[in-house]
Amino acid sequence: MEKLNGKKKLVVSVFISGRGTNLNSLIEFSKKKNSPIKIALVICNNKNAKGLNYAKKHKINFLVVNYKNKNKAENKILISLKKNKISLICLAGFMKILSRKIINIYKNKILNIHPSLLPRYKGLNTHKRVIKNKDKFTGCTVHLVNSKLDSGKIILQKRIKVLKKDNEYSLAKRVLKVENLIYPIAIRKFIETSL
Ligand code: GRF
Repeated sequence: MEKLNGKKKLVVSVFISGRGTNLNSLIEFSKKKNSPIKIALVICNNKNAKGLNYAKKHKINFLVVNYKNKNKAENKILISLKKNKISLICLAGFMKILSRKIINIYKNKILNIHPSLLPRYKGLNTHKRVIKNKDKFTGCTVHLVNSKLDSGKIILQKRIKVLKKDNEYSLAKRVLKVENLIYPIAIRKFIETSL
């Protein structure tokens, strides 16, 4: 926790790999008057990620990590997390799987956003599978990260209707908007109920 303007804020690191719309939504949330978080560090495994521009624009520390050697990459990440006194990690489109080492050090302190109604459609290509199966509903989920893929405790879920005219791209677009909305709400809920 860090004291900012007399109020305690949770110091957060956001992990990204690409576009960064969820990062942007979390940055906006962190700048709100009564926000419970401060984003002190962005971790990214891709030097060309568009999302890094949000970190630059808001002058947030960022670290680009080369994942050729996962062990070395994670050691660098851990050093940086420690240096920046991070107490909550938010995965936001981070395309690498964290090892047990990081998960154990940050036990119950890592959140992820996933574009499906977990436990349905873990892993990739969620929207394609929803369309293929002609599901009537889909959605997104914020959950705790444990050592099994997309399987930790669910913090918040939002359901949306799949329209007859939807394809995987139109669906992805609508779900993403909802993701951007619920991630901050989920963080607030997590902080208020689980910490
Ligand atoms: C989101 O759909 C998220 O659920 C998934 O990856 C995507 C990241 O989008 N894990 P963005 O980089 O936050 O725009």
